[in-house]
Amino acid sequence: MRHADLSGQVAIVTGATSGIGRGIALELAAAGARVVVNGRPGEASERRGAEVVQAIADAGGQAVAAPADISREDDVERLFRVATDRFQGLDLLVNNAGIEQPAAIQDMTLDQWRGVIDVNLTGQFLCARAATRAFLARPAPAPDGPARGNIIFISSVHEVIPWAFQANYAASKGGVSMLMRSLAQELAPMKIRVNAVAPGAIRTPINAPAWNTPESMASLLALIPYGRIGEPRDVARAVAWLASNDADYVTGATLFIDGGMTLYPGFRGAG
Ligand code: BGC
Repeated sequence: MRHADLSGQVAIVTGATSGIGRGIALELAAAGARVVVNGRPGEASERRGAEVVQAIADAGGQAVAAPADISREDDVERLFRVATDRFQGLDLLVNNAGIEQPAAIQDMTLDQWRGVIDVNLTGQFLCARAATRAFLARPAPAPDGPARGNIIFISSVHEVIPWAFQANYAASKGGVSMLMRSLAQELAPMKIRVNAVAPGAIRTPINAPAWNTPESMASLLALIPYGRIGEPRDVARAVAWLASNDADYVTGATLFIDGGMTLYPGFRGAG
């Protein structure tokens, strides 16, 4: 299979120890990037992170594990130092880490609200700020040269589709959409590209109950006109393209990778 060309690039992928983030880390490494594999601190997550790093090395790529809680300012500073210390620079941030804490609004605790906003929105802000500082520390590129740096937010179809019982999650992703577009507007003159990829239902641990029985898969497929669940590589390939110079004129864009979930499939022949 042909990969995008990311040779020479250094990338940080947050939440890269499982699911979509893991798929992105593997794809970027296959495309030639050196990858900082971030996951939350803790035994299970660190073991999964080490496995991702090993898988990349086995395939002939380069990666390093960097556990950090991206909702904490000091952890984020440490995470970004790994890229400069180990790989002498940074070209790409993939702001992927995200969590869900579903609850009916009348029962949602402040901890459930804050927990999701802290990781999905504040964490993305902290990492985007750190990446911007790293990009601005390098010499300005020629106006007709490639970008000085790239930030890719992993959002969700729920930046536009309301989500009952996941108000905290949908609110965080709506926030990510405006954060991404505001930064794209702010940073384009500095030749920093900022984009988002918004996945629909992708087969990962976060949404296993939505696909791991025939009944739940059938109700999920009713929401996906293209007729199949997505796989992490569907998202990862889009990220690799957006990160490459082939997408040099793309900034402020959101690419929905959702098999048509945002096309309101319930309206087909109805309404
Ligand atoms: C969520 C998944 C969900 C998908 C489609 C994603 O953002 O993390 O749990 O299956 O949106 O609803």
